[in-house]
Amino acid sequence: MNISQTPEKIRALIAPLRGQRIALVPTMGCLHAGHISLIRKAKYLADVVVVSIYVNPLQFGENEDFNQYPKTFEKDAEICKNEGVDVIFHPENLYPENGARVTLKVSDMSNMLCGIARPSHFDGVLTVVNMLFNIIQPNIAIFGEKDWQQLAIIRRMVSDLHMPIEIVGSEIIRETDGLAMSSRNRYLNPSERQQSLVLSEVIRLIKNNIQQGEKTTKSINLGMDNLKKHDISPDYLEIRNEITLQPENTITPQSRMFIAAKIGKTRLIDNISLKTESENTL
Ligand code: PAF
Repeated sequence: MNISQTPEKIRALIAPLRGQRIALVPTMGCLHAGHISLIRKAKYLADVVVVSIYVNPLQFGENEDFNQYPKTFEKDAEICKNEGVDVIFHPENLYPENGARVTLKVSDMSNMLCGIARPSHFDGVLTVVNMLFNIIQPNIAIFGEKDWQQLAIIRRMVSDLHMPIEIVGSEIIRETDGLAMSSRNRYLNPSERQQSLVLSEVIRLIKNNIQQGEKTTKSINLGMDNLKKHDISPDYLEIRNEITLQPENTITPQSRMFIAAKIGKTRLIDNISLKTESENTL
């Protein structure tokens, strides 16, 4: 396994591999079982797997956790090696000395859901993902479905900018008790860790109610009551179209339920498709 730290070095390393199918798994490190599932999917779908590890400053707001974001490079490299990753791209900095001058934005999808509490977050994500795509020029790139809004926005960028890259979503990996895996889960103390379970429980409860014929508004209200009972006041608990991210009043096969809430100081997100099991197997 090779480790490259500059765009020039990784380009030179990948040049002789062009012609094979190259997959990129973009990450910010602190790899866990969720990332491992992305790497395994990449290995299944491609000949060469590149994992990028870069904590992108541009996607963090002023009062967010950029400085605390866990950095575990040696452990991450070990995981990548064990998973058969071909190349790690681990740049120190991808921006000009005085910061980003060119940024990207998806006008109608960045200012909703997580974009309300994190107004410039998705511009930062798109800008860095675009850079990674330009540097590595992968055939496919794999993203976790936990960050569904990020995935939808990246899909929109690739489609609207005619980028020749296939975007693959990979299903949410959960702890055995249901909590969606995230590098930020390590910030939770034991009582917050317990409280965080309510998020996945509530979206599953709402999905079950809707599937049993209950009205969506009533089901969401029930979910809100449940959150309140556990002292959780969510940033949002909403049903939206999973492609356009626009609100949905009636349930369709593209309906998805989204939740975000702060547990202590840690902001957690989760989502679930509202497709029935039979639609899932179509
Ligand atoms: O999902 C993440 O870890 C990041 O947002 C990404 C896609 C690596 C961009 O920094």
